[in-house]
Amino acid sequence: MSLQRVCVADFEEEAKRVLPKAVYDYYRSGADEQGTLADNVAAFNRWRLVPRVLRDVSSVDLSVSVLGQKLSMPVCAAATAMQRMAHPEGETATARACRAVGTGMMLSSWATSTIEEVMSSMGASSPGGVMWLQLYIYKDRELTLSLVRRAEEAGYKAIFVTVDTPYLGRRRDDMRNRFKLPPHLSLSNFSSASLAFSEDNYGDDSGLAVYVAKAIDPSLSWDDITWLKKHTHLPVIVKGIVNADDAAQAVTYGVDGVLVSNHGARQLDGVSATLDVLEEVVQAVQGRCDVYMDGGVRRGTDVLKALALGATAVFIGRPVLWGLACQGEQGVTEVLELLKAELRLAMALTGCRSVSEVSRSLVRKVEFPSRM
Ligand SMILES: Cc1cc2nc3c(=O)[nH]c(=O)nc-3n(C[C@H](O)[C@H](O)[C@H](O)COP(=O)(O)O)c2cc1C
Repeated sequence: MSLQRVCVADFEEEAKRVLPKAVYDYYRSGADEQGTLADNVAAFNRWRLVPRVLRDVSSVDLSVSVLGQKLSMPVCAAATAMQRMAHPEGETATARACRAVGTGMMLSSWATSTIEEVMSSMGASSPGGVMWLQLYIYKDRELTLSLVRRAEEAGYKAIFVTVDTPYLGRRRDDMRNRFKLPPHLSLSNFSSASLAFSEDNYGDDSGLAVYVAKAIDPSLSWDDITWLKKHTHLPVIVKGIVNADDAAQAVTYGVDGVLVSNHGARQLDGVSATLDVLEEVVQAVQGRCDVYMDGGVRRGTDVLKALALGATAVFIGRPVLWGLACQGEQGVTEVLELLKAELRLAMALTGCRSVSEVSRSLVRKVEFPSRM
């Protein structure tokens, strides 16, 4: 590992230096005044660890089972759109890094690489490395289902359906930058220019906001979860739950998991930090399906706190993009290995020899946290 990059913040600093401003802004931004963006990270400081000692931590096993697949650690790559803006190899580099580290990657519907090329770049027969598809439900349902079918045929193992984006949040930097893809890139899973986000007529707004208003279905409802489950044999996980009642409802629709997420604070400012609602969601679900979380995970201790509050695994969005911008596949591998090393140490120093030993008693909420 590079000596200069010893924490996720180091990767972000370098990424900021190497990326064009509009790209860095698109990756970094949250919605509106970005209070929730900061709070997703700050929430981890509201919880303190209460370690156990004298438990022989000479060996620590980080492996977990996620949706029937064994992973080397409970940290996976979240769907982030348009990764070729960060590095020419984009999503294919991320997939290879995830395979090398033995973890899972959720491919965005808005990838700048196709479903098939990402899978084949990983080496379909290689062990370690699992691909899942993140699905946006388009107004055109046949098109939506064609993405699902392609994922099934290519060997993806689950569908994470995003439910928090009937409209795109107001990301002020993207509006000011009139964000759009550079001309050599497109959303590769779509053949028509209008759906590939490669037209040149997005006007004076964030091009992506215009795109979402045109293509994505704001009438999405629970019936669409039933519809999706009817059309795929893959596990379906609902991505974008923050309300415990929604989590309980998701269970009644037979989902295989809920992903507690506020879309990296990119949709609506003022929404709760995801860590703050995780425990309520876990309680509402009562073990009837898995609960995952994302948002603000930047350190091994963050992962540990999320596990202690009941998550089966966590997902990271921006940290992967920073690794990709710094050094492609190698950079993403370094970010994942960094979090793995930090988590291993955090588990050892709190007396946990395996993920199953991480319990609620390891964390305590503090009322007025000083900055950590
Ligand atoms: C640049 C960027 C692009 C994203 N694209 C998508 C996407 O295409 N689909 C989706 O469901 N979520 C998307 N997300 C949300 C992530 O899947 C994830 O919920 C979030 O990034 C987690 O927060 P973190 O970045 O603080 O780790 C995106 C997030 C970022 C930062």
